[in-house]
Amino acid sequence: MQTQATYDYQVVRQFSVMTVIWGIVGMAVGVFIAAQLVWPELNFAEWLHFGRLRPLHTNAVIFAFGGCALMGTSYYVVQRTSHTSLFLPWLASFTFWGWQAVIVLAAVTLPLGITSGKEYAELEWPIDILIAVVWVSYAVVFFGTIAKRKTPHIYVANWFYGAFIIAVALLHIVNSAAMPVGMWKSYSAYAGVQDAMIQWWYGHNAVGFFLTAGFLGIMYYFVPKQVGRPVYSYRLSVVHFWALIFTYMWAGPHHLHYTALPDWTQSLGMAFSLILLAPSWGGMINGIMTLSGAWDKLRTDPILKFLITALSFYGMSTFEGPMMSIKTVNALSHYTDWTIGHVHSGALGWVAMISIGAVYYLLPRLYGKQEMYSVRLITAHFWIATIGIVLYIASMWIAGVMQGLMWRATNPDGTLTYSFVESVKASYPFWTVRLLGGVLFLAGMFIMAYNMFRTMWSGKPFNAPVLAPTAAAH
Ligand code: HEM
Ligand code: HEM
Repeated sequence: MQTQATYDYQVVRQFSVMTVIWGIVGMAVGVFIAAQLVWPELNFAEWLHFGRLRPLHTNAVIFAFGGCALMGTSYYVVQRTSHTSLFLPWLASFTFWGWQAVIVLAAVTLPLGITSGKEYAELEWPIDILIAVVWVSYAVVFFGTIAKRKTPHIYVANWFYGAFIIAVALLHIVNSAAMPVGMWKSYSAYAGVQDAMIQWWYGHNAVGFFLTAGFLGIMYYFVPKQVGRPVYSYRLSVVHFWALIFTYMWAGPHHLHYTALPDWTQSLGMAFSLILLAPSWGGMINGIMTLSGAWDKLRTDPILKFLITALSFYGMSTFEGPMMSIKTVNALSHYTDWTIGHVHSGALGWVAMISIGAVYYLLPRLYGKQEMYSVRLITAHFWIATIGIVLYIASMWIAGVMQGLMWRATNPDGTLTYSFVESVKASYPFWTVRLLGGVLFLAGMFIMAYNMFRTMWSGKPFNAPVLAPTAAAH
């Protein structure tokens, strides 16, 4: 007779709770820097300057909030779909504490002005080494669990998580190669245009694998679970998986249009970005169509609202991205708030919404409760967050197009119609609306934290199964 394995939920609980906490911290910094753009007087201390807090915001929301959501859900999903417990649970625990250490080190060094200057890879070399060690440990736990699975196949969510884990290891290690010249200072191993190219190969694939493939892993488990139906098309999931991971790797140069990068590489990046629309929409369609025949659930189930709205924003941002990669469009959008609008339709609309939905799904199950403490508060959170996103991205789109048009406007004699500062002045109303949107989104996160702690401490108990099934069905 087969022995039953007990799922390891402790590390999943830890990551889930920290997803909410770091979400609040990272978004609070986002709100603060948004306020600094409206009231520059808020730059009152060196370590509080916009230039230092902006990377703190991006690191906190992407790697702390997003990273905890990805690591927590992947540890849950890989166990449930493999019908086995985690490989080396102590190593999984190390990944939790190691990752928290990375985050705390980032939170200390970035405000102090310690940075490598590479966007999304700002942390200095000692922290980079710690990240590499934690990440490789994470890979060992994840793939070790897959290796000892009791199921014949590897469920598609694990393919996406697996690609995300391997690609991030590769990207991080290659892009962070540097020569240290002191404890907190190093120089990149690459120079000039090669450095820029490697950086945006990293940067774009951080979007493709950290902010996309990993979250598609979340989507492929939590959407079918919450709907109570199998994935719409398993075949489509396999096709769009291979297409997505192949195509993303080539699209990086769209971040460097009209730079010293050879022209043909820019065109190559643009071509692959346009192709990328197809596999991206393959994933979106597969997720949304999983609901077919059960659309009515959307009306009553706020967790599903989060998940499906996330997919809609994913579809939107992966339509917008390829458009922005067209060189003539990019000539208008680059350097403007249009990019910021695109980023947050992906980051808030897709990444944050799908993470929030997944954590709401997980919390009662992890803490042995029947359901979340308050379903009405989840609904309230959903609407506040959605209104917040719409205010954020609509204001940035309008501001972005306005800035781009103002910068290129010329008088009949060839002189510029507007000075730069006039475009800044014209942007203020939009920055104020963005701030309001951010405040709303952050308020939603506080509601979530309240609901989470009430669920943990006082929700109705329920004996959720903690044993992996011995049969191959799940
Ligand atoms: C309350 C929510 C949020 C607010 C108020 C906010 C605000 C901001 C602000 C003001 C900036 C700087 C814009 C500029 O330089 O002009 C920014 C940049 C950025 N934020 Fe957020 N943010 C929020 C949530 C998020 C989340 C959840 C993510 C990711 C998951 C994210 C990812 C980013 C990224 C990647 C950038 C840099 C964009 C670029 O360089 O083009 N943000 N955010
Ligand atoms: C088919 C998919 C996508 C394509 C082709 C694409 C394309 C682009 C393009 C052309 C830019 C502007 C580059 C520039 O002018 O500097 C950009 C910026 C950005 N996109 Fe996307 N995008 C896609 C999806 C996404 C998604 C889903 C997210 C987030 C979850 C995202 C996050 C970002 C970020 C963070 C930046 C700002 C990078 C920076 O300058 O700091 N993108 N993207």
